[in-house]
Amino acid sequence: MTGMPTIEEIRRALEVVIDPELHRSIVELDMVRTIEASADGTVAVTVTLTTAGCPIRGHFQTSVRDAVMALEGVRAVNVGFDVMDDAQKAALRQTLGRAELPDGALALVENVVCIGSGKGGVGKSTLTANLAAALAAEGRSVGVLDADVWGYSIPRMLGLGAERPAVSAERKILPLVAGGISVMSIGFFVEEDAAVVWRGPMLHKALKQFLDDVDWGHLDFLLIDLPPGTGDVSMTLAQLLPQATFVIVTTPQPAAQRVARRAAEMAHKVSLEIAGVIENMAGFVTPDGERYAIFGEGGGQELADELDVPLLAKVPLTMALREQSDAGVPLVVHDSDDPAAQAIRHAARGLIALAPPPRAPEREPAGFVLPMAG
Ligand SMILES: Nc1ncnc2c1ncn2[C@@H]1O[C@H](COP(=O)(O)OP(=O)(O)OP(=O)(O)O)[C@@H](O)[C@H]1O
Ligand SMILES: [Mg+2]
Repeated sequence: MTGMPTIEEIRRALEVVIDPELHRSIVELDMVRTIEASADGTVAVTVTLTTAGCPIRGHFQTSVRDAVMALEGVRAVNVGFDVMDDAQKAALRQTLGRAELPDGALALVENVVCIGSGKGGVGKSTLTANLAAALAAEGRSVGVLDADVWGYSIPRMLGLGAERPAVSAERKILPLVAGGISVMSIGFFVEEDAAVVWRGPMLHKALKQFLDDVDWGHLDFLLIDLPPGTGDVSMTLAQLLPQATFVIVTTPQPAAQRVARRAAEMAHKVSLEIAGVIENMAGFVTPDGERYAIFGEGGGQELADELDVPLLAKVPLTMALREQSDAGVPLVVHDSDDPAAQAIRHAARGLIALAPPPRAPEREPAGFVLPMAG
């Protein structure tokens, strides 16, 4: 068969694959261990990871595959992994000109989940705070990063804000803790209700700091409350967190669903996987049991079907959910029988079910090759 790319061409194509923790190309970092191309159009690439339990393995698998598949003549890509030995690590340290390899911004965080929507006011922050509490109630270690640097509301919803975060001996910022949830927000650093003006590079730096310089420690889940829309913050985070998945919040009406689809398109564009959809404000039930579909019906399911992802929950409007957000104690903690609380707990269990199993601490055999569909 003709037209297979050469090993050199494949290596050049892999230059676009960036190690999100070291911020450089895997080619430049000498992390591409082997490249083999067969005449039948199959390419096998082995990437060397700094640690066996590397959380960004999935990112490498997808990006390597995409980069090589884009070459003409390639029909299938197998991505394998091995782990650097001490000599290779020493060489990498030298390339990077630093004494220590970074642990990785979020090396000990198993799952990063961004909560986003196309438009504002659909309940992202309310759901983020309550999902975090629900995950904690399921025995998971949870953090919340309030990435809404303009309209932060997480501190209030989790009853935090009077305190300032401390700095550890390792010069890392320590998150505040509410109900067992580690929390970081720009709201902890500015005067109450002060308007915060962020522009491109500063914003990027602030978000990067929230990831790199905050001592998150080991977390099963880090939930990120995004600002409304599909702007700068989402793009920056997507760049910094290629391992993140996305949960899209929408209200039931068709117009909201169309806007939410835009958020999904953005997620696709930056190659973030969409974990699921949560429909919020899905009807209101009176104390007499009469149900009003205030914001319409069915938009969440339709969006989920269209994106081919699960509908994680339909969360009804309840007064208690709003009241508890204002009071700073998540409803799922305060009254776990409330219908909105039940729906949110259902969504939390869905997130747990979707999460890959926790990484095994022991080393995996070198040269382990993951089969990939062509
Ligand atoms: N299911 C619900 N039942 C009752 N009130 C709700 C529900 N969901 C959200 N709210 C209320 O709606 C308002 C907006 O919610 P929230 O601030 O969580 O939205 P948001 O999407 O984060 O908004 P923004 O885009 O401004 O960040 C809040 O007052 C919240 O308490
Ligand atoms: Mg919000």
